This record gives sequence, C-alpha cells and structure tokens, in this order.
Amino acid sequence: MSDLHLTVDRSRGRLGAQVAAELRRAVRDGRLTGGTRLPSSRALAHDLGVARGVIVSAYEQLVAEGFLLSRTGDGTRVAGSCAPADVAEPQERAGAECRAAETAGPYDLRPGVPDLSAFPRAAWLSALRHALAAMPHSEFAYPDPAGVAELREELAGYLGRVRAAVAAPGQIVITGGVAHGLSTVVRLLGGPLALEDPTSERQIPLLRATGVPLLPIPVDAEGMDVAALARSGARTALLTPAHQFPTGVVLSPARRAALLAWARETGGHVLEDDYDAEFRYDREPVGCLQGVAPDRVVLLGSVSKALAPALRLGWLVAPPALAAAAARHRVDTDLGSPAVDQHALAHLLASGRYDRHLRHMRRLYRSRRDALVEALAAHLPQARVEGVSAGLHLYVHLEGAEEGFFERASALGVTLQPTTPGALLLGYASQPPHRLAEAVRLLARAL
Ligand SMILES: Cc1ncc(COP(=O)(O)O)c(C=O)c1O
Repeated sequence: MSDLHLTVDRSRGRLGAQVAAELRRAVRDGRLTGGTRLPSSRALAHDLGVARGVIVSAYEQLVAEGFLLSRTGDGTRVAGSCAPADVAEPQERAGAECRAAETAGPYDLRPGVPDLSAFPRAAWLSALRHALAAMPHSEFAYPDPAGVAELREELAGYLGRVRAAVAAPGQIVITGGVAHGLSTVVRLLGGPLALEDPTSERQIPLLRATGVPLLPIPVDAEGMDVAALARSGARTALLTPAHQFPTGVVLSPARRAALLAWARETGGHVLEDDYDAEFRYDREPVGCLQGVAPDRVVLLGSVSKALAPALRLGWLVAPPALAAAAARHRVDTDLGSPAVDQHALAHLLASGRYDRHLRHMRRLYRSRRDALVEALAAHLPQARVEGVSAGLHLYVHLEGAEEGFFERASALGVTLQPTTPGALLLGYASQPPHRLAEAVRLLARAL
C-alpha cells in the first residue's frame, strides 16, 4: 500500500505489470487526475516494498501508452491534464478552466478580474515571509472563526479611512470573498432577498443555493428603484451602490436616503456589495452606506479586485449581533479562513504596501479606461457609454449588440461576456491601451 493506494500481490508475480495495471485503472477511473505528480520511482518502490526497477518499468510502460508524462527535472505526471502551463504542452491540457482560457480570444474584455499580471508578487511574498516569521506556534491552531485579530484591526482602520465605514474589529468577520460573505449573511437573515435587475449573473447560483426567494428590483439611472423595493415586501436588499454591476450607475443621494429610510422603517437590512469601490477616477469617493447606518447595513468587500480573486480573502462588516452570528456560522460550517494569509494581508495593510499597490493600479486602470473611452468615441460614435467614473468595466449601450454580434466579435478574436440585449460590458483591466483600441476597431468591424 502507498499514498497512491496501489496494492501488489507478490504471490501472483509480474510485479511491474501489476503496478502498471493499477496505475492505468486509477487514471481511467479519474482517481488520478491529469497533472498529478507521481512519487519518484525510488519512493514508490520503497512504499510498495518492491525493487526500484519494477516501478521504473511500470512508469516507462505507461509513458509509452500515453497515460503518463515524464520530463527531466519534473518527474512523472499523469497526462491529459490541466497541468501548469510550464509543465504541459497546450494540447495536453483539458478540464473546464483550461478550456475557458483557451476559448478566450487574444482580446479578452470580459469583466470581473483585475490585471492578474500586476499581482504584487514580491510584496505578497515578503508579507507571507513576515507572517511566518512572526506568528507564534499557537497561531497555527484553528483560527478565530471571526478572523485573525491583527487583520480585523487593520481592516477596521483601512475601511474607516478609505470607505468611511464604521467598523470596530468586533463587527468584522473575515470571509473567503464577497461571494462567501453573501452566502453566509443571506442564510442568517433569511428571505426573501431583493436584488438589482440587472445584476451579476455569476452570483445568482450562490444566492439560489441559500434557498431564499429572490425578488429582482429594476435599476434605472439613479440605481435601484427603492419605491419598487418597498412594494416588494422584502426585508433584505442586495445592492452595489458604489458602482452598480453591470450598469456602472452610482446610487444617487436621494436613493441612498430613501434606501436607508426603508431599512429603518422595516427593520430590514441592506447588503452593500463593495466589490470594486477602490477604483474611482474622476469623482470624489462616495463613502459606503454602512458608515451612515451601521445598524442596518452589512458591508461586503474583498481583495479580489485590489490584489487577485485567487486569494479568496474578504470581509463582512455587520451590526455586532449579526457579526457574532456569522462567526458562529463559520464554526458550524468551515472553522474559519486560512490564518497565514490573513496575517500576510494584515502586514500588507500595516506596511502601507496595500495602499501603494492600489495607487499604482488606479493610475494604470485610469489610462486603460481613457484609451477605451477614446477608442469608442472614434470607432463606435453611436455607442452610449456609462459607468465611466469608477470600477474596471464600462457599460455600453450599442444598437446591434445582439447574439450574432457576439459571435462575429469572437471570430475576430474579441471575447465578450453577454449582458442585457443592446448593451456591452467591456472590462478594461487586463489590456494595455493599444490593445483596447485595436479591440474596439474589431468590435466596429463586427457590427
Ligand atoms: C458584483 C460582484 N460582486 C461580487 C463578486 C465576487 O467577489 P469575490 O471574489 O470577492 O467573491 C463579483 C465577482 O466578479 C462581482 O462581479
């Protein structure tokens, strides 16, 4: 028996053939998936108590049959994989994520991710190093389900300073991102849940999974129609007030006041999805709603746009009783978020490197946004552009942006995420200005 759960029966002889057959079956059954690194022949031979040559010949046989790949310096891996790009040739990759990446054209304008190539690797590495050096042994136990105290203190200061939030560390629960925070809070508050129409389609499955009824409320040029919300009978409303997704509308001052009045009168809650609020360009920052009504608003944020979605680190700021319930929910469901990463983020915030990175990215994204707006004016002058002042995408009304258009754009190499008919969502975070201009020229051709 080894870590691979292979067995050999010495009494049957032909040990190499037995090992090869077991490995073949494990790959066919999907128990060993593409890209999985196998133990060295020496280690596996030791585990199974056989001569090393037995394993070497079994591996060679399976490499010849195409089940395994063997590369000098990289050992032996299962083939047909979604393995890291530096390990597998493109044609060897499979799996949903790989397919998604491969189907994106050279101009990928889908919104939702920041410029992944700008992830501050050196700063994150140094923050991780600092965390690992500074954490006492006791911090490697199960973490506080509400989150590491140092991070909640840093976030309380950061959110107060940058988002005008009223956030004491005791009101903060560290989450695996906005999505995770939403699932938690919606489950705790129950339904029905009012949400913006249109909204982020990506969130619908996770909201449906909570089991609460979803009530779409129209969004107009001022944001969610609060009169319609009041008529809906919902007691919880999910909004993106700083930069509505997808339309880019900022919730107007009158609607903010009406929304908070609704929450106070009904004793309801506003769930404030602050997903890209750090990125604003031409307007004064609008403080979050939570800072105005901390007893009625739950603020949800994450590092997904500021650093990278892959970190799966975020926060919720809630009235104290709800924050305590959310922390208890973590005990009941998953025992908390990874502590080493939380310490690293706390250090990044405390050292000022998080702010520095944001300042740098804001400048970069502003120049990309400007290039995209200019190219739209030049090549698609009939387009009406919205959501310009903040975020990482534009919402563009464009007659003719229907199904066939998306296919023609895709054939020309521009990948778009469909949205409401007659509109385009153009994410500009990951393309340099000249490529954005070229992408818009191609869109004009597709039209
Ligand atoms: C509007 C909106 N809210 C929340 C999220 C999810 O954010 P997180 O990565 O923090 O879970 C997304 C993801 O793209 C989004 O578009």
